[in-house]
Amino acid sequence: MEIVETPEEARAIGEGTRGLVPTMGYLHEGHLSLVEAARRRCDVVVMSVFVNPLQFDDPADLERYPRDLERDAELAEQAGVDVLFAPPLEVMYPVEPVTTVEVRGVTETMEGLHRPGHFQGVATVVAKLFAALRPDQSFFGRKDHQQLIVVRTMHRDLSFPGEVVGCPTVREADGLALSSRNLFVADREAALSISRGLTVAAEAVEAGERSASVLVEAVRRNLALDSVDYVTLASQHDARPLERLDRPAFLAVAGRVGDVRLIDNLPIDLVGEMFVPDLGIRLDRPSLLYSR
Ligand code: PAF
Repeated sequence: MEIVETPEEARAIGEGTRGLVPTMGYLHEGHLSLVEAARRRCDVVVMSVFVNPLQFDDPADLERYPRDLERDAELAEQAGVDVLFAPPLEVMYPVEPVTTVEVRGVTETMEGLHRPGHFQGVATVVAKLFAALRPDQSFFGRKDHQQLIVVRTMHRDLSFPGEVVGCPTVREADGLALSSRNLFVADREAALSISRGLTVAAEAVEAGERSASVLVEAVRRNLALDSVDYVTLASQHDARPLERLDRPAFLAVAGRVGDVRLIDNLPIDLVGEMFVPDLGIRLDRPSLLYSR
């Protein structure tokens, strides 16, 4: 694996179809599952590690975001990444950008509503990564389902070549969706109420429930968070709220445990004529988040 700081160096390495796994580092099994998907489909796997200041609406969150490039490089290499693109701030933003990417229509709800500017920051940096690294395929987790919709929409509207691939959420052994923010969760039981609520909702969908308010209530009843930003059933197409489960959807939750903000969701896919909830993959061992 080669570690590089500029897009030119990254593009010069390897031949064949290129897969991009964009990350903000502090890798866990969620990121490594994206690498695995990229390895299955592409000849060269490029991982970017860049903590993008543009997408943080809370300076304290940016400040404490964990960073450890040495650790990331070791894990990325073991997972089969060919090129680790770790640009310094001045490579990504040589000057304060006056051009940003706003994806309307899919960012007015949920995360877009609760984190002003967040998706503009995400769409801008992802567009820059696409332009700089020119991947044939890029891999994003369904854990951030609205982000996946924003990226897909931006990719389509700006005519980027290639494909955006969504991959299942990876959960810790107790069900908590993997996120580097899990490191700061003090009240684990409270955090677990999110996946518990989503599991109850998944069972309700399997039993034939189609009312959004009933599914939302099934989640809310289980939540033991300090505060809840939203519980919403939304369309996988445009992230707009639904009243009924009548198309591919996701049931999304955001809230706080202490000062840690957590998000999670239950994608509900339409397979043939059946609605199939996708709780993702569960680890059978403690996450490497805690071991190194
Ligand atoms: O999901 C993330 O880690 C980030 O939002 C991304 C896509 C790497 C953009 O900074």
